Parts: sequence; structure tokens; C-alpha cells
Amino acid sequence: MLANPLEFASTWPAVVARFSADAQMVSQIKSVYGAAPSQANLSDALATYQRSLPEPSRFDRFLRGDASAITADERLGYEKFKSYGCVACHQGVNVGGNMFQRLGALGNYFADRGTPETRLDQGRFNVTRRESDRHVFKVPSLRNVALTAPYFHDGSVPTLEAAVAAMFKYQLGRPAPEADKRLIVQFLRTLTAQSLEKTGNKP
Ligand code: HEC
Repeated sequence: MLANPLEFASTWPAVVARFSADAQMVSQIKSVYGAAPSQANLSDALATYQRSLPEPSRFDRFLRGDASAITADERLGYEKFKSYGCVACHQGVNVGGNMFQRLGALGNYFADRGTPETRLDQGRFNVTRRESDRHVFKVPSLRNVALTAPYFHDGSVPTLEAAVAAMFKYQLGRPAPEADKRLIVQFLRTLTAQSLEKTGNKP
């Protein structure tokens, strides 16, 4: 994070030097850690601050050890989400958003949709012009997904239930019991930020 050129593009020596040049910071760090600013105490302070930030969703609270943050069914849905392999693509802290994948890896989504293909349907191909990138899209993050219908790049899927069913058909290439799909939908609803869960607002 600190060294990432897209984030702070900095280094620990530079950060320590900046804190050390600020008399008030030096005295505050000394009063808490009993030592001058260093990489060790500054990274501890940063981590402590980050842990104090409000929990974004019930699922985040669950991951941090609050077993009561989600119901037994929602938890079962999370287990299904993992065991069916949704996590192969929707992964990491944002449950997606970190890779590109072909829509219709295991079934022809575009033929089944029944409307002619558009330029937008070509996905990443529009950017790279590589044939292997045709119909390839960024795997979306599923945070707040319960509030963001309609789904997919073409907005052709009206409900979360239908989106999950389409994922089984085209991305996993296998059927699943209705009950399992329902549990997965219940899990996906735990990814809504708590402030939005209360108001029902779109993110
Ligand atoms: C092989 C990779 C892959 C797998 C496996 C996969 N997905 Fe997806 N998922 C995608 C891609 C790519 C999209 C974006 C499709 C588009 O925009 O047209 C997507 C879109 C979605 C969406 C719609 C999100 C939106 O905002 O439009 C949901 C919901 C979803 N996936 C849930 C699941 C679930 C649940 C599973 C497991 C049953 C699953 N996915 C398995 C790649 C995958």
C-alpha cells in the first residue's frame, strides 16, 4: 500500500523522516510507544487505525470473527459459494474485481440471449483487439450486488436469482438444486454495506 505507485508511491524511510520532522507527531508517538517514530510503531499505528474503521458489511463482521453477524442459512450459502467454485473468479476482499474472464466459458450466453451481438458484447476485445479477449469481461466485485440490478454488462438479467442461475449455466456449466441457488443469493445479500442495508439506497 505504502510503496504501491497507484496508492502512496512512498517508502518507509520517507514516511519515518516526515513524521520525525514534526515535533508534535514525535511527542505523540513517544507518549504512546515510548520511542521515536519508526517503521515498527508507525505501521502498528496505521493498522490500529484501520481496525477502528466501521465494518462495511455483515459479511466483513463475520470474517473478522463475529459468528452471529450472519445467519446459519447465509453461512451455508457462503459455503456453497466456495464449494461450487464461484470463488475461482469472484475472489479476494472485494469478492471479485481482480481478473478478466470469458462470459460463457461453459455455455453460449450470447446465442441463448436471442438478440444480436453488439459492440459492448465483445468486451475486452474492444480494447486489446485480441481474438482471445472476445466476450471477456472484468469479473465484477459482488459487494452491494443485491442493490445493483439489472445484472451483467448488458443489463439483461433482471434479478439476483436469475444472475446466479446464469452463472451456474454459463460459468460453471452445471445444474444446481434450487435450494442451493437460494442459499447463495442469501449469502450475496450479506455483502451489502450496512449503511446501505438500512436505507436500501443504491451505492
Ligand atoms: C469463470 C469465472 C466465473 C465464475 C466461476 C463465476 N462467475 Fe460470476 N461473473 C463472472 C463474470 C465475467 C461476470 C460479468 C458478466 C458480465 O458482465 O456480462 C460475472 C457476473 C456475476 C454476477 C452479476 C454481477 C453484476 O453486477 O452484474 C453475479 C451475481 C455473479 N457473477 C455471481 C456468481 C456466482 C454466485 C457464481 C457461482 C455460482 C459465479 N458468479 C461464478 C465470472 C464468473
